[in-house]
Parts: sequence; structure tokens; C-alpha cells
Amino acid sequence: MSTPWIHRFAKRTKAIKSSVIRELLKLTQRPEVISFAGGLPAPELFPIERFQQACQRVLAEKATSALQYGTTEGYAPLREMIAQNMARYGIVAAADNVLITSGSQQALDLIGKLLINPGDRVLVEAPTYLGALQAFDVYGAEYASVPIDDNGVQTERLEEALRCGPKFMYILPNFQNPGGVTLAEGRRHQLVLLAERYGIPIIEDDPYGQLRYEGEHLPPLIVIDRENLQRDDGYRLGNVIYLSTFSKTLAPGLRLGWIVAPPDVITKLVQLKQGADLHTSTWAQVVAYEVACDGFLDEHVRKIRQVYRERRDAMLAALEEFFPPEVTWTHPAGGLFLWVTLPEDVECNALFADALRQDVAFVPGDSFYATGDEGGRHMRLNFSNAPPEQIREGIRRLSIAVRSHMKRPQPITV
Ligand SMILES: Cc1ncc(COP(=O)(O)O)c(C=O)c1O
Repeated sequence: MSTPWIHRFAKRTKAIKSSVIRELLKLTQRPEVISFAGGLPAPELFPIERFQQACQRVLAEKATSALQYGTTEGYAPLREMIAQNMARYGIVAAADNVLITSGSQQALDLIGKLLINPGDRVLVEAPTYLGALQAFDVYGAEYASVPIDDNGVQTERLEEALRCGPKFMYILPNFQNPGGVTLAEGRRHQLVLLAERYGIPIIEDDPYGQLRYEGEHLPPLIVIDRENLQRDDGYRLGNVIYLSTFSKTLAPGLRLGWIVAPPDVITKLVQLKQGADLHTSTWAQVVAYEVACDGFLDEHVRKIRQVYRERRDAMLAALEEFFPPEVTWTHPAGGLFLWVTLPEDVECNALFADALRQDVAFVPGDSFYATGDEGGRHMRLNFSNAPPEQIREGIRRLSIAVRSHMKRPQPITV
């Protein structure tokens, strides 16, 4: 029912829709449903005992500061630890270049606030992370998109898109959400060079980089950018802003992410963040630091990698076993998702309704596209949140729904 309030909402709220994924997740709450829909980490891997010890230690030793207001930039020891950890991936950043955010979702919102005027175009991958589109939509973003393939965003098609003068590019180089693909090393270099040539900054979103299950780690865009700049004319401010998070390595409920950016960008982001939430929870930051310190985080990430690798393999094996040969899927080297392409006669939204009847859920692909209507033949499957035997059973059920739609292409309404 419409109330007078909806006439009072600001113009910028008009472009906002509720997340399709959040709505779908509500439908998948029944305990009998095997859900490949969310991007949820495995809860049985949360290091609960370590959190218990850390909370007790913080309360005993640092309660007055951990329960107090903090600086907007974030808890200094945590910023320092993040800077040190990133150095292992070649990212040279001082703690001053790191801003702690309330999840990297807040980082995306702050980036939107910082860079987007209504009508500005943002260059995104097709498909891309839905949450980024939601964050940028509020600021009146328009989009240009460049398709991905098995080697990430197709850089040979980038130049044409760059000519339309986007304000920035939003790129997910590692184990992309939703595609599961990784940007090849040669393409990383091309992308950074093109960005530099056209003067277009890059937002590099990397929540999954540490969750690699095979192959070598590839250089982040921020590292390639910095190397290029140093080679050309000594140190300058970089063209890349880098985002990451503790959501997939410690726990998403912490709501802790971070931004790495040049000092003048950090200064402005700090002002914007003050208006949003003053600072990210001091308690969460101090506890996360105590949990992660002394090498625990590395050890824990090793364990997560092992479990998720098994789950990825279980999903790939089950797809091979049950799915018809007309269906294809990506083979992610890390992360949480794989991306399935169905034959042309299958319509994913109708398939979703039937899959739910088989007690299995996924996310239909169309929500991940900023432009056009390309997602109807795709589905995103998450493999981190269910053990291997459930994954196999879920894929078996899903294959029944897929096969029935291939024979009966008419959309089914619920
Ligand atoms: C690509 C990408 N960016 C950002 C986020 C937001 O993560 P956080 O929990 O840190 O807000 C996610 C969450 O799934 C994601 O997949």
C-alpha cells in the first residue's frame, strides 16, 4: 500500500531496487533446500574458539579503548597488519594508505560517493558484482560494460568502451563474482596500460584473492600500475584504488573491509565516512586484530583453502556426472562461485522456480548485468557453503530441473 512517505523520498532513491539475491535468499530458507544461491562462507570454519579467547583478552586488557569511539581511519595496529600482509602480494602501502571500512560493501558506497556525479558512466564487467551496482546506482551511475570470458574481462574490447569516457572502471581480477574467472596476467598489463593511456582510474575489488586453490598468484592491478609509474617517471600517485575484506577469510559478520588509496583520496574518503558512520566498530577491529595476529590468519586461510578446494572439486565432478553435455561452466581457480551457461532454450528465472520445487537454489544470472539483457541463460552457483555430499545431491536435483527445461522450453509460472 502506498503511503505519503513514498512521495517524500529523494530522487536518488528512485533508481534503487531491493537486491534480487536478498529476495531469493528468503525463498531458500527452508531447511530442506540445498542452496547454492548465497555467497556465504562455511560457518563450521569460523574460528569460534579463537574469537572467544580474543574477546576475553580484549575485555581484560583493552576494554576501555575497544568499547570507546575510535578514529575514522581505523585501529592503527589493524591497519599496520593489513599493510604488512598485503606486502606479500607485492602491494606497497603504508598503514596511512589503508582506510578500514564496514565491509568492502561500504568501501563501494564510499567510492560511489567520492567519484560519481549523476549521469557519470562507470565501466563494469559483464557480468559483475551486483552489490557494486546497487552501491553505484544510488549516486546516479550509468554504465558501460565489457564482457568477460574464461580469462576475465576481454581487454581487446576495452578500448572501445573507454572511448565513451567512463569516470572509472570497476574490475574484479581474481575469481570474479559471479563468473569465477581470473583475469590473465597479460590482460592485467593491457588493462593497466589502457587505463593510464585514457586517464581512467581503476577500482580493483579483491575479496577472494587469498582463496586460491591452484596455480600461481597473479600480480594485483595496483602493483602493475605502481611498477609502470616507477619505470616511467619515478613515484606518482597511483591510478588504482584497491579493496579487500576479512569477510571471506575470518567472518562476514565482523563487517570489516579496507581500502588502499593514495593519501589525498584517503583524506577525502575519511571525510565521507565520517558522515556515514564516524568509524567502523572499534570492538570488531580490535577483536579481529587479536584473532588474526601471530600468524593465525595465515594458518586459518590455509585451512579454508583446503576445504573450499574439496567443495569446488565436488561441484565440478557432480556437474560432469549429472549435467547434460549442452551445458557449460567455468572452472574457478579460487573464490566461492562458478558460472553456468545453459542452452538457449532454457530461461533461468523459470528454471529457478522449478529448481526450488526440487529443493535446490541458485541465483539466476540476469541480476549481474548492468546493461543489456544477457543473463537469462546463466546461473551462479556457490560451492563454499555446503559439504561435498550435499553439493553432489544438490547438483543432481538441479540437473533434473535443467533437463526438464531443455525438453520443455516454455516458462513455468509459480
Ligand atoms: C566482489 C565483492 N565485493 C564486495 C563484497 C562485499 O563484501 P563485504 O562482506 O566485505 O562487505 C562482496 C561480497 O560478497 C563481493 O563478492
